[in-house]
Amino acid sequence: MAARKACESFSKSLLEEVHRWGCLKQTGVSLRYMMEFGSKRTDKNSLISAQFLHKELAIRIARRAMELENLPYGLSLKPAILKVRDWYMDSFRDLRAFPEIRDMTYEREFTDMIKAIKVRHNNVVPTMALGVQQLKKGMDPKIDYEDLDEIHQFLDRFYMSRIGIRMLIGQHLELHNPNPQPHVVGYIHTKMSPVEVARNASEDARAICCREYGSAPDVHIYGDPDFTFPYVAAHLHLMVFELVKNSLRAVQERFIDSDKVAPPVRLIVADGIEDVTIKVSDEGGGIARSGLPKIFTYLYSTAKNPLDEHSEFGIGDNVTMAGYGYGIPISRLYARYFGGDLQIISMEGYGPDVMGTYKET
Ligand SMILES: Nc1ncnc2c1ncn2[C@@H]1O[C@H](COP(=O)(O)OP(=O)(O)O)[C@@H](O)[C@H]1O
Ligand SMILES: [Mg+2]
Repeated sequence: MAARKACESFSKSLLEEVHRWGCLKQTGVSLRYMMEFGSKRTDKNSLISAQFLHKELAIRIARRAMELENLPYGLSLKPAILKVRDWYMDSFRDLRAFPEIRDMTYEREFTDMIKAIKVRHNNVVPTMALGVQQLKKGMDPKIDYEDLDEIHQFLDRFYMSRIGIRMLIGQHLELHNPNPQPHVVGYIHTKMSPVEVARNASEDARAICCREYGSAPDVHIYGDPDFTFPYVAAHLHLMVFELVKNSLRAVQERFIDSDKVAPPVRLIVADGIEDVTIKVSDEGGGIARSGLPKIFTYLYSTAKNPLDEHSEFGIGDNVTMAGYGYGIPISRLYARYFGGDLQIISMEGYGPDVMGTYKET
C-alpha cells in the first residue's frame, strides 16, 4: 500500500527520465585528480566542476533510485526504504530541473542546491539500516538473513556510491570555502599523519567506551608520527574509530569481572612502499569461527541492537558503542574506496588482528 502511494507521487515522465539517466555511464574521479583540480580555486574551475556535477550527480543518483525500486525479498516496499527512495527521487528532480549552468550566478545557485542535497541525504545509512531491520524482522525464521548475498552486495554498492557522491559534492563546495586550511583540499588532507588520526579516533572510541562501561582499556599506538600521505582524514578516522571500538568492547567484556588488568589494544601503523597498513590487535577473545563469515554482512552484531529501543534513529549511528552491525562492512567500504581493503584474522580464544590497507596515490 505504502509502495503504491510512493510511486504515485512521481509522474510517469519523471520515472522514465530516471531510467534513461540511470543507464548512462558514470565517470570515475581519482583522489589525485580531485586533489589537483581542487587546489586551483578559480571561477573557471568552479564552473567546469558544476557543469560536470550537474550531469554526473544525476546519473549516479538515478542509478541508485532505480536500484532502490527493484530490491529482492520485498525490501523495496519497506517504509524506511521508500523514504530513502523519495530522497533520491527528489534530488534527481532538483538536478534535472536546474537550467544549464552558463555563468557564475547559476554556478552559485547550483552550489547551494547540491549543498542542500547533501544535507537531505545525511541520514541515509541509519534509515537504510532501519529498512533492512524491518525486512529481517518480518522474514521467515527458516531463512538465514546473513545468507542473503544479494542484499549485502546491494548495500555494498549502494554505500560505496554514496561515499563517492558525497565526496564529489564536498570537493565542489570546498572550491567556495573562503578560509581554506593549509594542506587541505576539500576532504583530502595532502599531508595526513595516520598516527595522529589514529590517536584522535582511538581517544574518541575510548570516550564512548568509558561512557558505556565506566572505564576503557588503553590503546598503544606504534608508528612514525611524522609520516604523512594524502588521504581523507575523515574516512580513516571513521575506520579506526569503528575497529578500536570493537576491540575495546571485546577486551572490556572479557576482563570486566577479572582481577587482571585489561591488556591494551595495540594499533600499528606501517608505511610500506605501496600501501599504508593499520593493524588493530586485541586480546578480547576473538571472533568465533561460526561468526567470522557473518561479520562483513550488514546488521550482524553480538551486541544488543539499539534499533529495538528507538523506532527511529535520531542520534546518529556513530555515537553508540556497538549493536548496529555496520562498523566492519562500512569500514571495509571506506578502505576500498581508494583501492585499499580490510582483512580480519581471528585467533579464537585470544583475539583478532584487523588490518586496513590504504593505497598511497
Ligand atoms: N575485535 C573484535 N573482537 C571480537 N569480536 C569482534 C571484534 N570486532 C568485531 N567483532 C564481532 O563482529 C560483530 C560485528 O562488528 P561491527 O560490524 O563493528 O558491528 P557492531 O560493533 O555494531 O556489533 C561484533 O558484534 C562482534 O561480535
Ligand atoms: Mg562495531
